[in-house]
Amino acid sequence: MAAEEAIGSIQSSGSYSFKWTKLHLLRSKTDPLRYEYDTVAAKALHQLQAIAKTKGYSDDPRKRPDLYQLLVETHESHEDLETFWKQLHKVPDWVDWDQLERGQRFFYRYAAANLMGFALQGFVGENSAASGVVEVLVRTGGFSTRVLLHRLLETFQWLLQVTECLSAIQPGGAGHISTVRIRLLHSSVRQRILKMVESRPGYFDVETHGVPVNALDNIHSIATFCCNHMWLQLPRMGVYPTMQEKKDYIALFRYLGYLLATPDEYFITVDQAKATMESMLVHELKVTQTSRIVCFNFIKCLTDLPPFNVSKEFIEAGSRVLNGDELCDQLEMGRPGWVSYACFKGHCWLVSTLAMAQRISPILDQWIIEHWKTLLHSAVIQSGLKGASKFDFKYIPREGIKVNKEDNGRKGVNYGLLSRPVEMFYLGIFLLGLILVTSACALVAASLRLVIPYPGPFIFRI
Ligand code: HEM
Repeated sequence: MAAEEAIGSIQSSGSYSFKWTKLHLLRSKTDPLRYEYDTVAAKALHQLQAIAKTKGYSDDPRKRPDLYQLLVETHESHEDLETFWKQLHKVPDWVDWDQLERGQRFFYRYAAANLMGFALQGFVGENSAASGVVEVLVRTGGFSTRVLLHRLLETFQWLLQVTECLSAIQPGGAGHISTVRIRLLHSSVRQRILKMVESRPGYFDVETHGVPVNALDNIHSIATFCCNHMWLQLPRMGVYPTMQEKKDYIALFRYLGYLLATPDEYFITVDQAKATMESMLVHELKVTQTSRIVCFNFIKCLTDLPPFNVSKEFIEAGSRVLNGDELCDQLEMGRPGWVSYACFKGHCWLVSTLAMAQRISPILDQWIIEHWKTLLHSAVIQSGLKGASKFDFKYIPREGIKVNKEDNGRKGVNYGLLSRPVEMFYLGIFLLGLILVTSACALVAASLRLVIPYPGPFIFRI
């Protein structure tokens, strides 16, 4: 085991640095968590599969059961199912629904910054470099460019469902049901990979990566979902969440983590959650060849995607700003020119100006929240997925299935003024910002000259 970090030492990950404190997690505490996992759902899954068999269901994609529906119908028939059901429906006494509702609004309040941060830092940087997690992801085939977009949309569907409204995350709500489905899906992934390891131990290295979808992986994922916005993403775009916003959003994910069998004590307070996120940065990020494949395919999947046709260079510029050059170089990402950085700067100026305006005007804030909610629900769930997904187990790990670097099968975009509308828009904002700043500086200089006139000859004498 590597040496523990000393209390008071300065640690860094890319351009983010912090002091190691008593709240940070020791490796001696987190390493054993790789071998802990969600046994309650594993037992329930086993029972559900036995019941499904008696009802004529099988592994055949056309005859697979809806595990959640089966759970609803049969949970009273078996002790393991009842235990699982009760755990899912028990609301912990630390849950404050008003606070969670405020947390839900945070997602839409800064939607443009949150989505950009989630994609470019959460997925490209953090997820790619989480070495154990990517080993699981590539074995389900879901990181192939052919299916990645669908999978991303499904992840956004879940995010939208758990942030839609309070009743959605309360027992029986759409977000609550989807979260239970995801928990069963994770159990199926784990069960399948472990079954393959029994007959072929080299298929997945349990000793190094731990059990697939283990407790530590879950803690890391929840931290990525809620903490990274606060310290690694939004501030780098000029948006600074308030302490109340941090408390509320982290509390929301503490509850969602609880539903997904993630130990919740790591998210009790804002300081503890921040220390958990930082501990993961230091202990869990390691770029491997699989990280490079996941990162490559992710960028390919988003490049030239209609209708916005965002370029590879824009994605790379944003990723480099949010993750730092060191990590992006390790992931073998390209180095774009200044125009792409200027476009990303335009995005940052827009989201930071909007955030300031929203703090001043609650009416604007409310309008933006509602506007983004409607827009995203219709774009992701209705148009993108053509109706809400039930998160069934589609990409079943099989011998020989492991994703490699792939192309996206698109022809590319002929460059024209309107061919990349998002980048053009952001470049316009950047140029407008430059003109405004230059004019403001000139105005200040001219006014100063009026207030404090200086003798011209003095300057010439110097
Ligand atoms: C605790 C926080 C987590 C949340 C909120 C979460 C959320 C989700 C969601 C929304 C999906 C469905 C969309 C999709 O297919 O991508 C999903 C699927 C999946 N998740 Fe997670 N996840 C978490 C943790 C993890 C971890 C730690 C791992 C692996 C180590 C993992 C591995 C997977 C896999 C392999 C699938 C796809 C299964 C398939 O359909 O083939 N998840 N997760």
